[in-house]
Amino acid sequence: MCGIVGYVGNGDVVSVLFRGLTNLEYRGYDSAGMALQDQGEIKIYKTLGKLINLKNELEQKKPEIKHPTSGIGHIRWATHGSPSLVNAHPHTCSCGRLVVVHNGIIENYKELRAELISKGCNFRSQTDTETIAHLVADEYAKAKDLEMAVRNSVKKLQGAYAICVMHKDVPDLIVGARKHAPMLVGVGDGENFIASDTPAIIEYTKRTIYLEDNEIAVITKDSVKVTDIEGNIVTKKIEMLPWEPVALSKLGYKHFMLKEIHEQPDVIRNVLNGKLYDIDAPIALNEVKLDRDGLKKLNKIQIIACGTSLHAALVGKYLIEDFAGISVDVEASSEYIYRKTTTDSSTLVIGVSQSGETADTITAIKQARAKNSHVLIITNRPDSNMARLADSLIPVNAGIEVSVAATKSYTAQLISFYLLAIHLAEIKGSLDNSYLKNIKHELIQLPTKIEEVLSNTSEIQECARKFSSYKNFIYIARGVNLATAYEGALKLKEISYINATGYAAGELKHGPIAMLDETMPVLSILIPGGITYEKVLSNSEEAKARNAKLIALTSSTDINIDALFDIVLRIPQVSEILSPAITCVPLQLLAYYIAEFLGKDVDQPRNLAKSVTVE
Ligand code: AGP
Repeated sequence: MCGIVGYVGNGDVVSVLFRGLTNLEYRGYDSAGMALQDQGEIKIYKTLGKLINLKNELEQKKPEIKHPTSGIGHIRWATHGSPSLVNAHPHTCSCGRLVVVHNGIIENYKELRAELISKGCNFRSQTDTETIAHLVADEYAKAKDLEMAVRNSVKKLQGAYAICVMHKDVPDLIVGARKHAPMLVGVGDGENFIASDTPAIIEYTKRTIYLEDNEIAVITKDSVKVTDIEGNIVTKKIEMLPWEPVALSKLGYKHFMLKEIHEQPDVIRNVLNGKLYDIDAPIALNEVKLDRDGLKKLNKIQIIACGTSLHAALVGKYLIEDFAGISVDVEASSEYIYRKTTTDSSTLVIGVSQSGETADTITAIKQARAKNSHVLIITNRPDSNMARLADSLIPVNAGIEVSVAATKSYTAQLISFYLLAIHLAEIKGSLDNSYLKNIKHELIQLPTKIEEVLSNTSEIQECARKFSSYKNFIYIARGVNLATAYEGALKLKEISYINATGYAAGELKHGPIAMLDETMPVLSILIPGGITYEKVLSNSEEAKARNAKLIALTSSTDINIDALFDIVLRIPQVSEILSPAITCVPLQLLAYYIAEFLGKDVDQPRNLAKSVTVE
């Protein structure tokens, strides 16, 4: 979604802001802009569409840009008002001396707007953000102090915001404030940064101060001051970012998505590192802070997540129920938050999120906390808002994921669920020791098997070529791979805009079979040796009888499969229970290659955002 970067210092302001915005663009946006403090003037540049347009605009306006010493930049994902130049940030007050960029949604903007209009403010956009510009300008006229003006203004705002404000009369000073939207300060030498997320600053500094809700930061090139909403100084810790800037490079791959798919073997090794090192030793999951007695007695778990993380949660449910016999509910956060749930203090609530910033999941977690549940967060961003709400935190260590379509973070979430389910089973004594050893052994083998899949993608590419012109797909599976079918279909929808539905294979005949004909390919996930293989096979036969083209994703070596299916995508031998960690990979690749053949914007699909920070 939206992204903010601000800079004060002697560096090349335009290029620092532009690099920062570029490193945030994976989040999804539809317009971009920046405001520069340049020789006593505030100069604003905005463009629609991708950052390249802003780059061209800045290039064109080069003669008028003299020597900027500070600035704020923004990429906007439209919420209030269409994606248009007038709605793009930065926004200004009526006289143009004060500029604001904003992430989030101001819920009471209509009331504030009406009040400000009655005071003579001249509104030009449909955004909620413009209200902030006029409001702070109004307060500045009274307080004559920008920090105070921001403080007085944010007290009047309802909703979510991360804002950066500059004023023509207060050169080279940026005031930032946040509530329910992330914001951090990057500490440099003779220069300071402020941003909505770490990738915006990582190329320049690793020293970071995370702002909390209701905190206000004032940065100049030589100072950073953080206060609370009442103006009291808050002493903040400087934390070191754990990533290298190289994480934001494609390393020779055509797209980040392809690079991230290929990183999965190492990601799994990372997740297992230190937790599963010997098949005879129990899983070391010290991150779970409930004591053994508490875990032994545990009989209710609720997992809350959205999108791909929700699919990982479905696999998690299957594993925890199968291994540990604990009842697990899985629910989309957006549903959980608007109903009366049975969450109570004896429920373990697990929030799953790649970004740790998904608004629906954060709200759900807050609701669970209010009911005194123990909250366990599984996230790729231990520095996120969600992580800060955790009683227990399992960081999935997938490294920064740039492509909007989640891939490696999904596999990392799955592996975390395997570890958690085994850990619970070991505490409960619910699994036979030799079965446990086998599972652990297989988990250790997983990266090598995925490397095998990644080393030969020719069949998948061939399949993509043959099927890229189809408009509808059904992915079927049963049991633990049903979530894989959902996830595979979601990947295809997200990046190729082809209609794909994941369906329980046994449910096909209860409705969707009516749609089947030669225009609707069916992809079946078939893992022999488990309890679902024969059933999915016969469901595939039913589809074949309706002339559907069939694709198999299987570890079976049975040649009869080749006769029944039009294309067979083979993966290495794997037990059914562990197979979701492998079956997801060819489906990610299939979606990738189809989107690539269709010439889609793989890493930044239309309408999507990497962090969905609005409910
Ligand atoms: C995944 O490919 C999607 N971009 C999306 O469904 C995502 O999983 C969802 O928005 C949840 O995000 P989170 O994991 O960061 O909470």
